[in-house]
Amino acid sequence: MRKIGILTSGGDCAGLNAAIRSIFYRAQKYEMEVIGIKDGSLGLTKRPVDFIELNYPTVSGSLFREGGTFLGTTNRGDPFNFKGDDGKYSDLSDKIIEGYKLLKLDGLIVIGGDGSMKIFKKLADRGKLNIVTIPKTIDNDVGATESSIGFNTAVAVAVEALDNLQATAASHHRAMILEVMGRDAGHIALNAGIAGGADVILIPELPYAIDGIIKKLNEMKKHNIRHSLIVVAEGVKTENGETYMNKYADGEKRLGGIGDYLATQIIKKTDIECRVTTLGHVQRGARPNANDRILASAFGVYAVDLLAKGKFNRMVAWQNRGVVDVAIEDGINTYKLVDQNESLVDTAFALGIYIGIT
Ligand code: F6P
Repeated sequence: MRKIGILTSGGDCAGLNAAIRSIFYRAQKYEMEVIGIKDGSLGLTKRPVDFIELNYPTVSGSLFREGGTFLGTTNRGDPFNFKGDDGKYSDLSDKIIEGYKLLKLDGLIVIGGDGSMKIFKKLADRGKLNIVTIPKTIDNDVGATESSIGFNTAVAVAVEALDNLQATAASHHRAMILEVMGRDAGHIALNAGIAGGADVILIPELPYAIDGIIKKLNEMKKHNIRHSLIVVAEGVKTENGETYMNKYADGEKRLGGIGDYLATQIIKKTDIECRVTTLGHVQRGARPNANDRILASAFGVYAVDLLAKGKFNRMVAWQNRGVVDVAIEDGINTYKLVDQNESLVDTAFALGIYIGIT
C-alpha cells in the first residue's frame, strides 16, 4: 500500500473531519501517501480527478473540531443511474472506476452510510477496487455497529433543543413538539427523548394513537403539569399511514412536516396550545462532541490498518467497547431500526413516557 484515497459520501455529519485526520495520521506509520477525493464519488468522475493531497497542515489545527466534511460530499443520486444537469440519466460507474485507476490508488477508504456503502461495494466488485468502509450517519441505522459517526452529536443537539424548549414550554403552559431527523429509524428521537425529559416520543417503528398522546397530556394535567415536550421522528406516519414530505423547487423530496400534523390534531381535540420546532440540519452540522471525535479517531486508525493488512471489502464497526471489522454486506444488509424489545424502549415506558403502541 503506497497510495490511499479517502472520500466522504452521503449526508454529512459531525466527526467526518476527525476521521479524515485520523486516517492521515495512521497512514504515516506505513509511509502511505494519502489523498482526499472531493465531493464523494463525484470527484472521481471529474477530469482531472478532483482531489487534494493531504499533509500535516491540511489535517491539523482545529479541523477535527469542526462539523461537516472539508472534502465535500454528495447524497444526490445513484451513480449507476445519475441524473445530469440536462435531466438525462446516465451510468457513471465506469468513470468512477477509471478515476480510481487514474489516481493509481492501492486502496480507498469510503466514509458513508448504508446507501454509499452499497454503491461502493458494487463499484469495488465491478472495478476490482480495494475498499474499506467507515460507517457514518446521524440516523445510526447501519447494522453490525452499535454506533456510527455523527449519531452521538445529533442526539446531543436534540437534547440541547429540548433543554431550551422546556423553559418556554413551562412559561406558556404549552405542548412543544420537536421534530428530529432519522429517516425511517427512531434512534435519535428515542435517545434524545429520554435524555431530554420528553413526555411523548414517537418513532416510526412503533404505532401510536393521537388519543394515546392526549390521554398522556391529560394525565399530566391531573398532576398539575400544564406543559409538555413531544419528540417526533421525521419518519413517523400519520394515524392513517401517510408519510409527510417536503417537496423542494428542484424536485427533491425529503421527510418533514409530521410535527405540524401532530400539533393540528392535538389542537383540534384539546384546549392545549402547541408549537412546533423542526430541528433539521443543525443535527448534522454541529461540532462533533467528544464521543464522535473518539469514535471517528478509532475507526480511522483501524481502517488504515485493514488496508495495510490487505483486508478489503470490510467495514469497521463498534462492538462491545472496541473496534472490529465485518464484511461490508453485514453493515448494509442488517439495516438497524429500533427494536420494540430493546431496553431503551422499556426505559421510556418505565419513565411514563408515551411511546405509542397503546
Ligand atoms: O440520512 C441522514 C439525513 O440527515 C436524514 O436524517 C434526513 O432525512 C436526510 O438525511 C436529509 O437529507 P438532505 O441533507 O438531503 O436534506
